[in-house]
Amino acid sequence: MKSPVTVAVTGAAGQIGYSLLFRIAAGEMLGKDQPVKLKLLEIPVEGPQKAMRGVAMELDDCAFPLLSSISMHDDPNEAFGDANWCLLVGSKPRGPGMERADLLKDNGKIFIGQGKAIDENAADDCRVAVVGNPCNTNTMIAAAHAKRLGPERFTAMTRLDQNRASTQLAQKAGVPVTDVNDLIIYGNHSPTMYANFKNATIGGKPVTDVITDHAWLEGEFLTKVGKRGAAIIEARGLSSAASAANALIDHVRALSTVSDEVHSIAVKSDGSYGFAEGIWASMPVKTVAPGTYEVVQGLPIDEFSASKIAVTNDELVGERETVKEMLG
Ligand code: NAD
Ligand code: LMR
Repeated sequence: MKSPVTVAVTGAAGQIGYSLLFRIAAGEMLGKDQPVKLKLLEIPVEGPQKAMRGVAMELDDCAFPLLSSISMHDDPNEAFGDANWCLLVGSKPRGPGMERADLLKDNGKIFIGQGKAIDENAADDCRVAVVGNPCNTNTMIAAAHAKRLGPERFTAMTRLDQNRASTQLAQKAGVPVTDVNDLIIYGNHSPTMYANFKNATIGGKPVTDVITDHAWLEGEFLTKVGKRGAAIIEARGLSSAASAANALIDHVRALSTVSDEVHSIAVKSDGSYGFAEGIWASMPVKTVAPGTYEVVQGLPIDEFSASKIAVTNDELVGERETVKEMLG
């Protein structure tokens, strides 16, 4: 039996937490032979603390063979202690009519304290995945407050956008989603994101050969993917939860599994693909050792793609300017 991996999850009593924790405990994230210790964090308020206790009771009641322990916390320093993975979900979701960037002032400050607490308490090999919105810039804030753990340890989740885009392409082409490959999201987890269909394939052929309605690809497709979160809020009255949890499972599994597969992950930009250095932008990433990735270089970017990347880059640079006092 392997020794347990410690996974800290913030926002444990929230919607995403409720879809996520059971799948982690079932071995869907780290493997069916990998025991896990779950450390749950909620704000120090009785309502969420009580709800978290209820979630832990249900986790107990599943009798998951891989779940070696559950602990509950209201102090980030304790919750992140010895954590190998910190999954930062806890923060305010947007409501109808809001953009994710509207959350920046409220949610951004959470990531100052959590970045410090992770840096001071987590395991040496700790990896951090941020879901709380606006996730790219929140990740930048958390990483700015870490001195021991380098910025490469901090990633933000755009896998939900990749999954959404792949399904839209599959549905348009009338094929199973498994036929769609290499669809990568560039930039921000916001309506400016660029779902780069130009380098993607369907059944091994370029998307643009299979879907000949190029006006749909350049217009409705991109808008639909970019605004999918808002469409779900409009329909459910609540933001996406099960699909977000599923994407986080995919994100962590992708980063834990060495392969040539390319994934959408928001990482600190070194200037690749025209992004400003130092912002967290989604890019094509592949995992070269468990928890260690490289940005895949040299993929072709045509004029259309470059113009889309410029727009999402400008937004990320603007977000960095908005939070400059939070960067330490
Ligand atoms: P929710 O309101 O249901 O749950 C959030 C939970 O976080 C609450 O229980 C709250 O008490 C807790 N929380 C707040 N501040 C905290 C802190 N400082 N420490 C620990 N816990 C804290 O929200 P949700 O639907 O689970 O969404 C959570 C976040 O994820 C939101 O910001 C949402 O916008 C974002 N989100 C991102 C993506 C993505 O693709 N990146 C997808 C869906 C949702
Ligand atoms: C999503 O994409 O579903 C989430 O980021 C929630 C939101 O506010 O859109």
